[in-house]
Amino acid sequence: MFNFNYYTPTKIIFGKDAEKQTGELVKNTGCKKVLLHYGCGSVIRSGLLDRIRTSLNESSISYTELGGVVPNPRLSLVYKGIELCKKEHADLILAVGGGSVIDSSKAIAYGVANEGDVWDFYDHTRHASACLPVAAVLTIAAAGSEMSNSSVITKDEGKIKRGYNHDLCRPVFAVMNPELTMTLPAYQTACGCTDILMHTMERYFTNGGNMELTDAIAEALMRTVIRNARILNENPADYNARAEIMWASSLSHNGLTGCGSDGGDFATHALEHEIGGMFDVAHGAGLAAIWGSWARYVLKDCLKRFHRFAVNVMGIEDYGTQEETALKGIEAMEDFYRSIGMPVNMQELGISPDDGQLQTMAHMCSIASGGSKGSAKKLQEKDMLHIYRMAVKPRTCLS
Ligand code: NZQ
Ligand code: ZN
Repeated sequence: MFNFNYYTPTKIIFGKDAEKQTGELVKNTGCKKVLLHYGCGSVIRSGLLDRIRTSLNESSISYTELGGVVPNPRLSLVYKGIELCKKEHADLILAVGGGSVIDSSKAIAYGVANEGDVWDFYDHTRHASACLPVAAVLTIAAAGSEMSNSSVITKDEGKIKRGYNHDLCRPVFAVMNPELTMTLPAYQTACGCTDILMHTMERYFTNGGNMELTDAIAEALMRTVIRNARILNENPADYNARAEIMWASSLSHNGLTGCGSDGGDFATHALEHEIGGMFDVAHGAGLAAIWGSWARYVLKDCLKRFHRFAVNVMGIEDYGTQEETALKGIEAMEDFYRSIGMPVNMQELGISPDDGQLQTMAHMCSIASGGSKGSAKKLQEKDMLHIYRMAVKPRTCLS
């Protein structure tokens, strides 16, 4: 087992009606003026935004508002948010929405608290030294940003999607009422479940360390998400399934499922960020479309883990060689994705990049990764390109 730091400062308020406590929670932080940040309308249509305003008013918290965050949140709106916060002297950013709104809030919070261009952090040319407090009222179980140390922003020019990780941005509190996710379209619910799974799988498929307890937690989490995603596919209004998925979203990306590992693989995420940047697809769907190709490509380099995954997570009976069983596990995962309406290649994702675009994505991915990425197998640019090419069309063979 490797040494590790585990830091989860976020207070979680979980369950029915939890959002009613928002005003009091803000008051307890000592902050005086809130930027209420939200997306493109779901929180207006559901009435949630009005309920949050009421809760803030009841606690005598003043606020200013900025809506319009899109999935794959844009830097241009982040700049607007920074200006607004400075003008209004906001000292806490309250995200009401999903990962995109929370990430946009985190970027605004960095931008207000640090001099210079906030994009520098996402471009990895310098580090943040401060961050305004960020809090979240979560409306979709997916990205795990409500407890994570990361945020992902897309620069409008050049469609460059980049993440920045720092403990400074971990939210001070997250309000998590599973009922708020019941208005999600089925596709977004499935994208969320995929992303949750991937956050644990990225930490699970490594070649580093002995992590018996962490592995057991990770496997339980993955089985739970798969089981409950199937339930939600049949019955989106199942509260308990919504609750299981919502809690899994946080635990999957707050660091718990990586304790003792070598830091994880995260190549699938790196590959998806280029797809999301170039084609503006939903993050979870992009992950599902690339994962099977990545898995087949790295299988032999991380065989023990893929075998364990097949048996302990996908319930494959051990048969034949270790590799055959492991491959059955990958196929079972892809069958699961399809069963909840997720794509398992780019064609099913609805995009058809030409080879030049694949080469651009591989090049950008390798630059963003500092030259190489991965733990199951360290991928260079040529490996990234190979995986993108494998993922373009339905598979006819193993390479
Ligand atoms: O904008 P609105 O109208 O609110 O609609 C959103 C959006 O269209 C809708 N939605 C959210 N809650 C809803 C709802 N619709 C109806 N009812 C509700 N209760 O769902 C759509 C997707 O929302 P979004 O916030 O984009 O989803 P998600 O949480 O999956 O976030 C995706 C973003 O997070 C990044 C992704 O790359 C992507 O940009 N990630 C952030 C991470 C982090 N900060 O730790 C880690 C992840 O790996 C990921 O990269
Ligand atoms: Zn993700």
